[in-house]
Amino acid sequence: MPDLISVTDPADPHLDQIAELLVAAVRRREAIGLPADVTPEYARNWLLKLLPAVRANDAGLIAAVVDGEVAGTAKWQRSEWATRWVHGDLDKLTVAPSHRGSGVGRALVEAVAADASAHGVELLTLSVRGNNHGAIALYEGCGFRRTGWLENAVADGDARHDVVLMARELARPATARLLGSWPAGAGASLARGVTEGATWWRTDRLLLCRPTAADAAEHFAIHADPATNVHNPAGPQTDRAESEQTLGAWAFQWAKSGFGYWTVRLAETGEVIGFGGVRPALPGEDGLNLYYRFTPAAWGHGYAQELGRAALELARRRAPGEPVLALIRPENAASIRVAERLGLTLDGPVERELGTYLRYVIRPA
Ligand SMILES: CC(C)(COP(=O)(O)OP(=O)(O)OC[C@H]1O[C@@H](n2cnc3c(N)ncnc32)[C@H](O)[C@@H]1OP(=O)(O)O)[C@@H](O)C(=O)NCCC(=O)NCCS
Repeated sequence: MPDLISVTDPADPHLDQIAELLVAAVRRREAIGLPADVTPEYARNWLLKLLPAVRANDAGLIAAVVDGEVAGTAKWQRSEWATRWVHGDLDKLTVAPSHRGSGVGRALVEAVAADASAHGVELLTLSVRGNNHGAIALYEGCGFRRTGWLENAVADGDARHDVVLMARELARPATARLLGSWPAGAGASLARGVTEGATWWRTDRLLLCRPTAADAAEHFAIHADPATNVHNPAGPQTDRAESEQTLGAWAFQWAKSGFGYWTVRLAETGEVIGFGGVRPALPGEDGLNLYYRFTPAAWGHGYAQELGRAALELARRRAPGEPVLALIRPENAASIRVAERLGLTLDGPVERELGTYLRYVIRPA
């Protein structure tokens, strides 16, 4: 296995060898993104310009050394976009032909990923020429997946080649909210007349999302909070595994019906503040069941009503003709008020395993 050396110092003796390796790679017409007429001086200057970024923790230059000789190299660099400091790009991976096939390439990719991760990079990307199937196989073997391509974007004389874009997830902090392309947070906007996507629904202040297993921590925090369970005869949840099971059951039900309970987020920040919505009622009940449970900090802002109005609209569109019902404990005045404001009316008390509930119903006009 090679020794993997992080180069930071302009006086590092490995620097000249890395420059020579890059020049030799370009002479062999390898696709490492340097001009065809690259000279050792050019390559050395290019490396010297990179080193301040390495010392500023915004890049990493790795040499793979075998028997005292540089057998390969690769680097990563943080995105220049101020808002993309969690995004780094890997490039300039090359291994001397005499050392190929012995794990040097893989060791370099892993060293770059570890170094980038240690410097706060959460998503490591790369671009590889579409005709370079060997390198693509190496990257796939190292956990990169294809995320897209740029058609015939590389020019080599008259030849044009695709650029294949690849990405690998590195560690994310537990506090990171992975909002993907949901219309929430700074910069969010809606296309005119479109308030619904395959996995989301937007109201004025809320983003309602199809739940995923990644919501387990928030689901547990809200369902294990005694304050949100004062009127729940089953009491607060005590085990996070229950949240995982519930989210699994919700995912199954979403797959079956195409809709179900949502994870409720604040559109402004993407922060989870509750869970709820409508889903087909449990066996023994007719129609759809309406549910809402919010973290106490989000109480008193009318969010439950905002969620409820979206849920009733969804019920009208996806399950026309179905009544929507809510089973509420008689002493749960706040929940009764929300149901009444949404237009549900008392249908009478019902007995269930855990005691007496009031059955509130709204039937489609
Ligand atoms: C791509 C390159 C860096 C691979 O280096 P390497 O040291 O030979 O790679 P490794 O020996 O570490 O190979 C690791 C794994 O990658 C995969 N791999 C590497 N080359 C492959 C090929 N031609 N075909 C299929 N899989 C390949 C294999 O899964 C291999 O694991 P295995 O040997 O246990 O099956 C090297 O061929 C090279 O320098 N190419 C020219 C420069 C270049 O194209 N760089 C990429 C620019 S984006």
